[in-house]
Amino acid sequence: MWYTSGMDVQILPSLLAADFGSLADEIRRAESSGADALHLDIMDAHFVPNLSFGPDVVALSRRVAPAFFRHVHLMLTRPDIYLEPFARAGAQTIQIHVEADCDLHVELPRIRALGLHAAIALNPETPAEAVFPYLDVCDEVLVMTVHPGYGGQSFIADCLPKIAAIRRQSPSMDIMVDGGINAETGVLAAKAGANRFVAGSHLFKQADMGSAVAALRRECTAAFQRP
Ligand code: DX5
Ligand code: ZN
Repeated sequence: MWYTSGMDVQILPSLLAADFGSLADEIRRAESSGADALHLDIMDAHFVPNLSFGPDVVALSRRVAPAFFRHVHLMLTRPDIYLEPFARAGAQTIQIHVEADCDLHVELPRIRALGLHAAIALNPETPAEAVFPYLDVCDEVLVMTVHPGYGGQSFIADCLPKIAAIRRQSPSMDIMVDGGINAETGVLAAKAGANRFVAGSHLFKQADMGSAVAALRRECTAAFQRP
């Protein structure tokens, strides 16, 4: 299902917004919502001003929901040091930032050589052109629509033209957005050309996550125009 249909609209709950007192139940709740994958945010208190969790939580996700695709977003200054530990823990996509302190021409092929999907992420202040040199060695581009580090921030609409620029440059690329996504902002991103949507606080705060995932999928699918 994952990565096979070409620019299908996908919805990914971000575990950062879960109740950490019931993490296993929260992972099962996200899986049974009908979402496409679990988004796991890894922070090092250096690349971003916050710490989150490490490979053990990725491994927990694999243990409690083995069939639920694990999408790992590395907000690390040196993601290259951690590729193998996250691969061993069960990551299936690894995203590394174009602003990180490593050579993406080396690390993206290394992610693929580990048998995983390789993705590039870029921060709000980074121009779209920064990812252009790597588009033929990656499977997905993540456009951050908040400054990374915390959940629950407001969507930065100034990022929308970058989505459109990446869509023009690579018409069949999977383009993901992450940060401040709800039914309203998801539609804006879909109109600009995004087809994958990470949502943390919007989805985990719902009593019925399944209805919210279905609504987000419906609205974003209607707004996304295939090029
Ligand atoms: C932010 C993370 C996001 C975050 C999104 O640094 O990369 O994935 O969990 O949370 P919301 O959807 O609440 O903005
Ligand atoms: Zn993220």
